[in-house]
Amino acid sequence: MLSSIVLIFILPLASQAISNIRQVSDIPIQWTNCSTWTDQLSIEKVEANMWPPKRNQLLTVSVSGAAKEEFVYGNYIKTIVYRGYSLPPINGPLNDFGVEVPVHRGPVKMIIFNSTIPEVAPAGQYDVFVKAYEQDHFEVMCVKFSWEFSNN
Ligand SMILES: *[C@@H]1O[C@H](CO)[C@@H](O)[C@H](O)[C@H]1NC(C)=O
Ligand SMILES: *[C@@H]1O[C@H](CO)[C@@H](O)[C@H](O)[C@H]1NC(C)=O
Repeated sequence: MLSSIVLIFILPLASQAISNIRQVSDIPIQWTNCSTWTDQLSIEKVEANMWPPKRNQLLTVSVSGAAKEEFVYGNYIKTIVYRGYSLPPINGPLNDFGVEVPVHRGPVKMIIFNSTIPEVAPAGQYDVFVKAYEQDHFEVMCVKFSWEFSNN
């Protein structure tokens, strides 16, 4: 069961499917600060193109805030937890989030999630944890957002 869920999530995240570019109106969503100590990025808002997420549709989630310090390089780790089971984390450079490094002090926007939710995504609770780190491996942010799918 778990491995099939891993497959349906990892495949679409790994490939950049081509889809129509459309106008996105962002909606503020509820999120949790999962950082234990960082103060590098003061987060003003977390927004999504739709909420709640829908199967078979592109979900785009962004974080907007202000960098308190400059960072020259960064990485992220994204983990989807399904019904309490952690799927293999996805990681990469902050460029994947549409961030150009170096990031200077001041406003910054990161696209922390941009994937089509699989048609076959099973019912249950989904928690997405996105952490970003800078060059010295200090945490820049940790954002958690969640949704739940019911059986159709
Ligand atoms: C999000 O993904 C879609 C489909 O792959 C792509 O067309 C779009 O450019 C991406 N947007 C961002 C901000 O990365
Ligand atoms: C998140 O919580 C940590 C620890 O309490 C705090 O240092 C940080 O400023 C908070 N970040 C935001 C964006 O609220």
